[in-house]
Amino acid sequence: MLKKNSKERYHYECSSCGARFLKWQGQCSKCGEWGTLEEIRTTNSSMSGGTIPHTDPNLLSLQEISKEHIKVFSSGSESFDGFLGQGMAAGSVILLGGEPGVGKSTFLMQLMAGFLSSGQRGVYVSGEESPVQLKIRAERLGIQDPEFRVLNTHDLYDIFGVIRSKKPPQFMIIDSIQTIKSPDVPGIIGGVSQIKEVASRLYEEVKHRDIVLILVSHITKDGQIAGPKVLEHVVDVVLYMEGDRLSSYRILKITKNRFGPCNNILVLEMGNRGLKIVKDPSTFFLTTRDTNAPGSALIMAMEGQRPLVIEVQALVSRSFGQNPRRTSVGIDLNRLYLLLAILEKRLVLKFSEMDVYVKIGAGIKITDPAIDLGVCSAILSSYFDVPVPEKAVFWGEVDLSGFVRPSFGEEKRLSQAINLNFSPIICPSSKHIKVISPNKGISVIKNICELRNHAF
Ligand code: TYD
Ligand code: MG
Repeated sequence: MLKKNSKERYHYECSSCGARFLKWQGQCSKCGEWGTLEEIRTTNSSMSGGTIPHTDPNLLSLQEISKEHIKVFSSGSESFDGFLGQGMAAGSVILLGGEPGVGKSTFLMQLMAGFLSSGQRGVYVSGEESPVQLKIRAERLGIQDPEFRVLNTHDLYDIFGVIRSKKPPQFMIIDSIQTIKSPDVPGIIGGVSQIKEVASRLYEEVKHRDIVLILVSHITKDGQIAGPKVLEHVVDVVLYMEGDRLSSYRILKITKNRFGPCNNILVLEMGNRGLKIVKDPSTFFLTTRDTNAPGSALIMAMEGQRPLVIEVQALVSRSFGQNPRRTSVGIDLNRLYLLLAILEKRLVLKFSEMDVYVKIGAGIKITDPAIDLGVCSAILSSYFDVPVPEKAVFWGEVDLSGFVRPSFGEEKRLSQAINLNFSPIICPSSKHIKVISPNKGISVIKNICELRNHAF
């Protein structure tokens, strides 16, 4: 049996969530995934650190630090630059996560074409698709720029070669990080130690150069970026692309941004020739719906800084099993449990005998807590078999006590609801109601008990 070197230390890391363990185990006790623990080796010398300098370190006051040297590249798309804040900072690394087939490669090829059109250099590194596959997609997208350079490799050093070349690109896409291997560390390609090494080496490489680097990463079943969480710590910007592959909508969300806002969203529409940015997405998700059918309600949700009108559907039916079913698509299942418990207790309804299904269309996941009131309305509408008024719109977070509390962005939600002629507008009390419009079909709801009287 091979004896481990006494100068080496080992620990184990989950390739799904990045949790660390001293001993190997079959199942990660943090995320519950099986067979994801990988051995990570650390030598004693790497833990002993460097030497402490004899001279005092050079400390800078904030006044001495100049912002002028920060170079920002435009992507060629005003909407995308605005989405990130002010374009892409040179020396930054952006991570784009999303499920396979959602449209990451399509979006990035279009982004690179826009970048090249302003006379800058770009390289698309593909470890997943062959150059021919990229060409077929480029033809579909109408990209013919001869400057669109492609590198087909799995080797990190090939990428370093491009970055250190005489004419390095200002824009580089690596599709995907899971397909690149560093010869300096052990571990399988796409494994946790490889991903960590590749991401941190690339970050070091581009940090002091005029390059914007975009890394593509797959996401796991539960929506996390595959590989350790550390990947998200290493990069400057984290973007997620969401959407149902079978529908045409995609949403790009920022979850981390070291250079600008991190609550913007970008709505995109997938067509036959790639993705198009939707300029005014507020009612984009309102596809045709059966307004006479019970169980459907409209919510004014805030995604980032934008109010979006979205339909929520609920189906409450008699349960024939021992445990009633609860299923949610697009909203957190625990949130559904919570709302059902509140409705059961405060309105004295018997959900324990009912199956409840709640769905938000278009493959969007809504995390805005103000969807509560709309979800409760859809559930009540299906429970009582009474349709919600056609032009009614809802928002407001529901407390465990049944109290409906105001949410962020009240002013924006309210003006948007009035502009779109919704009535009644069923929402919590806020100071903006008096300022914007005292009597424009607004029904202020204090608690969940009042909801039934107002909406049905
Ligand atoms: P892709 O960009 O390959 O997804 P990812 O890189 O996230 O895996 O997109 C794949 C899907 O997009 C595929 O199902 C085909 C569809 N698609 C279109 O509908 N229109 C288009 O113009 C293109 C290029 C792709
Ligand atoms: Mg792809």
